[in-house]
Amino acid sequence: MRRKLAAGNWKMNGSVSALDMIGALKLKHPECPCDVLLCPPAPLLTHALQNSASNPIFIGAQDCHAKESGAFTGDHSAAMIAEIGATHVIVGHSERREAYGETDVQVAAKAQAAQAAGLTAIVCIGESLEQREAGDALDVITSQLARSVPDGSSGKTLVIAYEPIWAIGTGKIPTMEQIAEVHGLMRIELRARFGADADNIRLLYGGSVKPGNAAKIFALDNVDGALVGGASLKAEDFSPIIEALA
Ligand code: G3H
Repeated sequence: MRRKLAAGNWKMNGSVSALDMIGALKLKHPECPCDVLLCPPAPLLTHALQNSASNPIFIGAQDCHAKESGAFTGDHSAAMIAEIGATHVIVGHSERREAYGETDVQVAAKAQAAQAAGLTAIVCIGESLEQREAGDALDVITSQLARSVPDGSSGKTLVIAYEPIWAIGTGKIPTMEQIAEVHGLMRIELRARFGADADNIRLLYGGSVKPGNAAKIFALDNVDGALVGGASLKAEDFSPIIEALA
């Protein structure tokens, strides 16, 4: 059985004092068969790890470089993230694909580097509004999934986040049928590639997940949790989303 996962992506938001929310999160451990992950900006990772000592959640980064080290000013390697005790890293978020031109090939290389360092890679994929309206969403998802996920991935080292770009930070979400269709497709594609272990790979939905819509999204087949942006910044919003996983 796949453990549910509530993952918060703070993007470039937050502060050391804002991390106090970790202690305020209502976690249902050990009764709730779910994991909670918070991905703050890189400069806050060490503080987040300190705060997570009292309230057991996982801490992850929002990106990593594909190389182990070198002259890459401003970047950080997967090994550096792992060395401080973080366990996950998001790769291929649409904001990085758009702002920095990251390609599927680069995303796969980052995911592979993360896995080699012992991290779980959260690979993000998702279609634009134009692609959705043109009827190309499923083709886009199939292609991104095939090209952004490295060979050798497993349920332990890979999480997929389906984030329709047009749903991120907009308050709009796809219909439940659309989410179920994409998640079902991803499961089929992963089974074709990874066999039975594909059933251990968690598939998250991301894009305007809020306390008010989380339960109905989590009730869908093959939705194993969420990648949450804005609603992960405050315990009063993130806690009910975690509780909706139970
Ligand atoms: O990584 C998180 C997603 O981009 C979703 O962000 O929940 O603010 O729409 P959002």
